[in-house]
Amino acid sequence: MSQSTPTDRFNTASAIDKLAHTNLLRQDPKLEFIISNSKKNGLPDITVSPLQGAYLGIQTRIAGAKSVLEIGTLGGYSTLHFVRAGARVTSIDISERHQQVARQNLAEAGAGAEAVEFVLGAALDVLPRLAREGRAFDLVFIDADWAEQYAYFDWAVRLARPGACVYVDNVVRALLECEGAVEGAKESLVTQVGRDARVSATLVPTVSSHKMGPENMFDGFLLAVVL
Ligand code: DHB
Ligand code: MG
Repeated sequence: MSQSTPTDRFNTASAIDKLAHTNLLRQDPKLEFIISNSKKNGLPDITVSPLQGAYLGIQTRIAGAKSVLEIGTLGGYSTLHFVRAGARVTSIDISERHQQVARQNLAEAGAGAEAVEFVLGAALDVLPRLAREGRAFDLVFIDADWAEQYAYFDWAVRLARPGACVYVDNVVRALLECEGAVEGAKESLVTQVGRDARVSATLVPTVSSHKMGPENMFDGFLLAVVL
């Protein structure tokens, strides 16, 4: 397969995504409902990809996570993966609209209040409150505004049990959008986590056609374990 232009490379990424999706994932009407109902209700089309969702479910099982903290609910697509993997999810979103649609989506999927606790508010207000309440989590999923990635990460670590993992989405996209960050000339999540003695972390770069164009093909997430 030729890979000479960005479009060729994007088509290759798309073919790989399709191969993996078709062969590894099952038909899933509940997840498909979440996507279509979120779209119908005008939510932005920025959820994790189906393959990434499956990864989150597997990661939850590997970790044996029973309590997940999610920063950024959107339509509840990733939320359902955590619930299905056996976790109770506390999911924060700043948008009442997102939360309404997510409630509808998860109710339709059969995930009730025993499975998901929705919290409305700015994460940087909610997270200190959860800490004051003595809450602790086995896995934290951060998928919210990129400018605050390290502020969220810092709270995530404070709210995580020893051995818990913290996943930060879109770390490579955030690096690419910040001039000087890739070169290390400007602070980024990677430089800040690198100095953080509370965790051991890695970056998992990804190539995917999920974000609809060659310019958004490179992404990657940061995964940390709390020491
Ligand atoms: C975009 C993608 C994301 O996964 C996200 O969390 C936010 C924005 C985007 O493609 O713009
Ligand atoms: Mg994201």
